[in-house]
Amino acid sequence: MAEPLGDWQRTHTCGALREADVGREAILLGWAHRVRDLGSLLFIDLRDRDGITQIVVRDDESRLERAKEIRSEYVVGVRGTVQRRSAETRNPKLATGDIEIVAAEIRILNEARTPPFSIADDTTVSEDIRLRYRYLDLRRPAMQANLRLRHRIAQAIRRYFDAQGFCEIETPVLTKSTPEGARDYLVPSRVHPGEFYALPQSPQLFKQLLMIAGIDRYVQIVRCFRDEDLRADRQPEFTQVDVEISFATRDIVFGVVEGLMQGVFTEIGVDLPVPFQRVPYAEAITRYGSDKPDLRFGLPIEDVTEAFRDSSFDVFRAAADRPGDVIRGIVVKDGARYSRRELDELADQAKQGGLQALVTAKLTADGTVQSSALKAAGEATIRAALQQAGGKAGDLLLMAAGPADATSKGLGALRLILAKKEGLLARDKFAIEWIVDFPLLEWNPEEHRWDAVQHPFTAPLDEDVDRLETDPGSVRGRIYDLVLNGWEIAGGSIRIHDAAMQKRIFRLLNISDEEARLRFGFFLEALEYGTPPHGGIAFGLDRMTALLAGETSIREVIAFPKTAAAVDLMAGAPSPVSDRQLRELHLLNRR
Ligand code: AMO
Repeated sequence: MAEPLGDWQRTHTCGALREADVGREAILLGWAHRVRDLGSLLFIDLRDRDGITQIVVRDDESRLERAKEIRSEYVVGVRGTVQRRSAETRNPKLATGDIEIVAAEIRILNEARTPPFSIADDTTVSEDIRLRYRYLDLRRPAMQANLRLRHRIAQAIRRYFDAQGFCEIETPVLTKSTPEGARDYLVPSRVHPGEFYALPQSPQLFKQLLMIAGIDRYVQIVRCFRDEDLRADRQPEFTQVDVEISFATRDIVFGVVEGLMQGVFTEIGVDLPVPFQRVPYAEAITRYGSDKPDLRFGLPIEDVTEAFRDSSFDVFRAAADRPGDVIRGIVVKDGARYSRRELDELADQAKQGGLQALVTAKLTADGTVQSSALKAAGEATIRAALQQAGGKAGDLLLMAAGPADATSKGLGALRLILAKKEGLLARDKFAIEWIVDFPLLEWNPEEHRWDAVQHPFTAPLDEDVDRLETDPGSVRGRIYDLVLNGWEIAGGSIRIHDAAMQKRIFRLLNISDEEARLRFGFFLEALEYGTPPHGGIAFGLDRMTALLAGETSIREVIAFPKTAAAVDLMAGAPSPVSDRQLRELHLLNRR
């Protein structure tokens, strides 16, 4: 039977007491983490958000009897005296490990069903069970630490932007579609039959309207919604730190962001050097096979096409001859030690990553050449390729041939596999870089039209504007992404502030005047009322927090996330609704 809390007030949290407190009276309130019953002596590890304190119950029979009723996760209050632990019972793993509390009074404040898993960081239970009982999962110290880190990061962000003169403004959640490349979540209107609100994929148009409104510097920590396929770094609802600045140049945005990131990294005790390096998009693709390269490690992609130009190795020579095709490779330092089996495994993985075939070449420590194409290409050619790629004695070169971008992308995937294999992905190491000079548009072969690489409001580079209609694929956008350890954590651009240019871009994207008016009429109209030049950026707060917490999934830093199938396993959402509700929303005909 549970007892009332009465007039008890907590004097300390379960992580607070130290040796200096010996002799003090204390009241602690928390959960029974573990109970050890030794007959005439009983220990309770009492846990709260701050830590664990050992409680000793002894002497008084009725108090002992009462304490023996306590099970894991019961809510317990203890009044008692802090006592020094004997030398052999001290626990150096606990912050409170030098003391214990000798209970004078125990109150069982609530009982608990046996939890489906133990509330400990080393729990091996499946993620589905953790999500089904998320409130228990969140009791684990690691999850408590993640949520507190997220809180601290959010506070650091607000402090920073406030000091920089930004104003936090809320934008609507029930609104009109903002194109960010995903599907919209729609909300049917009861009052307007057949009409829908869209949940924002981002506040993009509203933040631009705030610049037109003269707000000058806007920030918002804001929930965004996207109906897209989920992955470890994607949720259907996620949080952006959304920023927009009037009269912004790219350098102004970069300065603001670099200062922000320094402030955020201070929260985990890391001193982040600025400015961040800037990698042009084309170089990122060629050298690392990705527009979000992980630069914690090297393993760059090298071009070895020349080595095979006149070679007897037909496949590679043909690639060297074919315009647009290349032969590229990655050098693994000291990789000559890789066994045959390891190389076969890598070749399989390379195929899964989209490469047709992987050719291996080793320069052994004594200078001999070994290669899967030794017979076909001859030793001199392989040696030339090794040299061109910068391979030294003891190194391994992995090569592939094909169209330039596809080959680099395939090698880019292999680069990550190699980094993992070589143990180069330390979670406490951070590499951050800007990716710049993205193309403005990309060709959509299925729908035979140009799509915006970012969104339709991005400005083209001034010097490329002339080619908008004649050679759209060559036009670069004033786009930038911020990449941390291979994750895109922020993206933004300098915007179009000129109504005529905005219309020109809509036309290029095959959005008719009529469609533009229907979808963005309010915005196009606003552009004509004195829009300042402006630009901005938005961060994924979940991704940023996950990386700073050393987690590999953003679900670990979201209190109540959804599964990869977009389901809330705890609340049971999505769920069917009644016919009555559907009729009210005009989604079911009235009978
Ligand atoms: P973008 O679409 O690049 O830009 O989004 C900005 C950042 O938000 C994060 N992000 C996500 N995080 C978790 N789950 C998702 N499904 C998800 N989608 C995006 C990423 C990404 O870098 N309006 C523009 C920004 C601008 O131009 O200012 C925008 O939304 O970290």
